[in-house]
Amino acid sequence: MLLQQLLLCSLVVGSLIYLIAHLGHGDRGQVVCSTEDTSRLASDSVQANQGVSHEERGGGVNRVHLVQQLPHAIIIGVRKGGTRALLEMLDLHPTVVTASQEVHFFDNDENYGKGFAWYRSRMPHSLINHVTIEKSPAYFTTEKVPERIFGMNASVKLLVIVREPVTRAVSDYAQVLEGKLRKNKTYPSFESLAIDSTTDRVNTKYKAVSTSIYTKHLERWLHFFPAQQIHLVDGDLLISDPLPELQMVERFLNLPPCIGRDHLYFNSTRGFYCLRSGQHRGTRCLAGSKGRRHPSVHPAVLHTLRLFFHPYNQKLYQITGRTFSWQ
Ligand SMILES: *[C@@H]1O[C@H](CO)[C@@H](O)[C@H](O)[C@H]1NC(C)=O
Ligand SMILES: *[C@@H]1O[C@H](CO)[C@@H](O)[C@H](O)[C@H]1NC(C)=O
Ligand SMILES: *[C@@H]1O[C@H](CO)[C@@H](O)[C@H](O)[C@H]1NC(C)=O
Repeated sequence: MLLQQLLLCSLVVGSLIYLIAHLGHGDRGQVVCSTEDTSRLASDSVQANQGVSHEERGGGVNRVHLVQQLPHAIIIGVRKGGTRALLEMLDLHPTVVTASQEVHFFDNDENYGKGFAWYRSRMPHSLINHVTIEKSPAYFTTEKVPERIFGMNASVKLLVIVREPVTRAVSDYAQVLEGKLRKNKTYPSFESLAIDSTTDRVNTKYKAVSTSIYTKHLERWLHFFPAQQIHLVDGDLLISDPLPELQMVERFLNLPPCIGRDHLYFNSTRGFYCLRSGQHRGTRCLAGSKGRRHPSVHPAVLHTLRLFFHPYNQKLYQITGRTFSWQ
């Protein structure tokens, strides 16, 4: 009897101490950025997310329950804008988990037909209060995607990373060209694809050009989502000075500011930033193909394209309230 009372008493005292110690850490804004446990867990589970039960890690006391959640935020594009870099950089955040593969759920009818349970099963394991993010750049330009995403969660946050439109178009071409050359195939020059030789005007049917007309696509998204729910990331700045861009994304996602200078270091050999994860101090540089060399394009064609994109860019600045340093 006495023993039972003692036990009960120590339980009560223990709970009180626990409560006091954790008071003030309740809401997301107070989460300590260097929470070793949770960030380790999250990154472990990203690597080993093949259906293993992750309960009771760290012993019975710190019992944690990992879940797979539909994304709270989606990087919807754009292709060659720096979506992979953005995803990997956001993954540095201790309360963010990211799907390592492009899921192509909303743009691919076959995948979409498998339903949200399948989509959820493609997501990494995380704690319930963590933020799940996936990226599939084809979403931005695929017509039926905005409505489908709206149907999943009308409050989901959307991220679009853009680069100067002519640079992006050339980068898009360079990637396709590389694929053709690898298969020993020939491929027309960028100039002949981007400019219609019969009219001498910009060929808006060429995918690399039309993808760079950002406003045209964004307007489709704005039929479903308010502008405040779509955040634009400057892909050129993400390469040259990533931290301020990442801090803006943290604010947009209501995350505590955790990503800092420590997480990023400039590798002058590559000419790109590499990432240093908080807890294991492991380093990661983006894949080599990300620094693919662009073909040299005739200056007159570049000039024509810049003039062509100019009004669309102005419209983009107007819609989004964000100005980019494009010509
Ligand atoms: C929808 O997205 C918002 C914003 O990320 C999130 O807070 C909310 O929990 C999501 N709802 C569901 C049902 O997943
Ligand atoms: C491409 O051509 C080269 C040289 O002609 C040849 O060695 C190579 O095997 C070819 N590759 C493919 C994928 O056909
Ligand atoms: C910097 O980049 C070079 C070239 O890709 C690579 O060999 C080297 O390991 C990188 N160094 C660091 C510290 O990341």
